[in-house]
Amino acid sequence: MNYLIGIDIGTSGTKTALYDAETGKEVRALTAEYPLSQPENGWAEQDPLDWWEAVVKTLRAVTDGIDGNAIKGVGLSGQMHGVVMLDADGNVIRPAIIWCDGRTAKECEEITETVGYDKLIELTANPALTGFSASKILWIRNHEPENYAKCRKILLPKDYIRYKLTGAFATEVSDASGTQLLHIAGRCWSDEMLRLLKIERDLLPEVYESPVISACVSEEASALTGLKKGTPVAGGGGDNAASAVGTGVVREGRAFTTVGTSGVVFAHTSKPVADKAGRVHTFCCAVPGMWHVMGVTQAAGLSLRWFRDNFCESELAEAEKKGVDVYQIMDAEAKTSPIGANRLLYLPYLMGERTPHLDPAARGMFFGLSAIHGRPDLIRAVLEGVAFSLRDCTEIFREMGIDTSGMILCGGGAKSPLWAKIIADVYHTDVRAIPASGGGAFGAAILAGVGAGLYPSVEDACDRLIGYRPLASFDPENAKAYDKFYGIYRQVYPAVRNCCHLLQE
Ligand code: XUL
Repeated sequence: MNYLIGIDIGTSGTKTALYDAETGKEVRALTAEYPLSQPENGWAEQDPLDWWEAVVKTLRAVTDGIDGNAIKGVGLSGQMHGVVMLDADGNVIRPAIIWCDGRTAKECEEITETVGYDKLIELTANPALTGFSASKILWIRNHEPENYAKCRKILLPKDYIRYKLTGAFATEVSDASGTQLLHIAGRCWSDEMLRLLKIERDLLPEVYESPVISACVSEEASALTGLKKGTPVAGGGGDNAASAVGTGVVREGRAFTTVGTSGVVFAHTSKPVADKAGRVHTFCCAVPGMWHVMGVTQAAGLSLRWFRDNFCESELAEAEKKGVDVYQIMDAEAKTSPIGANRLLYLPYLMGERTPHLDPAARGMFFGLSAIHGRPDLIRAVLEGVAFSLRDCTEIFREMGIDTSGMILCGGGAKSPLWAKIIADVYHTDVRAIPASGGGAFGAAILAGVGAGLYPSVEDACDRLIGYRPLASFDPENAKAYDKFYGIYRQVYPAVRNCCHLLQE
């Protein structure tokens, strides 16, 4: 039996899983959690040694009793954009500033002024965003010059784990795309960005294509983790790029929507096309020579959970009494309300919004409330509003000429048949589901299998290992009805944007 291992360094925890390389079946998996520290409002940091501890613990558990020779490769996936700084001895200098940290607005202005907006899009395919690594590096240089002076290597979260496993400094194109230092079309560090931002090339690791074996497990790491010395470690991918491999989104026309706490719409493309307004991200994907575009709804599942926690006491009590999931009861109620929720719209901007508004001051709202509305209408409006917000992403992809007809739906939201149906109708496309084991860790393991020579290519591996099942098909009549509501939905936020900003002040 041949095995592959996928390690996904998430924000709340690390998932490590052992897969049967023949079938793709998850044989063992374990997640270990760690804290997130917020030293100031809007800041977010983690200790890279916590990630390493979680990796050691979960690796020991999944490799226990398994013949090390049968483990053909390890793939890494993880949260993007985080900045890990190492000194000359390979020690962590300060906690990692991670993706959801928003302290770098000034540094983003500095980057835009220094590089120029158009050049930034031309080189990095994205505007300067607080989430991305470049502004975090500049922040450390501006505010902690003593730490910056000590720094000899800057690594992304999963690449720090690679360093601990192998001793090598390496990254791969999908995660490196989120640093804003990569030339996205050329798939290499941008000398021009580095020159303009005065960042030394030596501070950065080597960049590989995602399935390439970047290094092998060291003796020291072998003793700690239970992996055999010399086990190949593949490039891997940023969490969304690795998830795309884990869901088989590796060809033109394929896309996935994840409805988790936030919502992501991700589409594969063979061209490095960028949205001039920066409303969606363009990154290199984990398939060599290919790219992806990605839009984000900040509060997708979070909207429904917020509604549940604040307004669904009786549903929660009923669920407990019947021993069922409260979302099933909320679904059944929402089904009694018609398309358009009796002319009620919901804007899911509880946490500001990335796509399409790029506006942290955006706020959520129910629009069109009337005395006839009851809880079923409000629940339905939440489901529909999130679907409209996700459609905003697909509309931008359409403007960019990207085909999203092969849509896969995953995440917690895919468990709701009603939500899946609403999304299919709102998107005007059938949606499919993948087996439960998909996701970042699985995608990383597939990339390791390609690197280790078990599969001829990422596309072949996905064809062999990933099967789909139909989840919801769209009905043209429903789709037409939703179009009318979507047309109004799109007009609401621009009409109240100013008021949202005044309210925040
Ligand atoms: C991508 C992004 C997140 C993080 C954390 O741009 O910010 O997906 O990678 O999951």
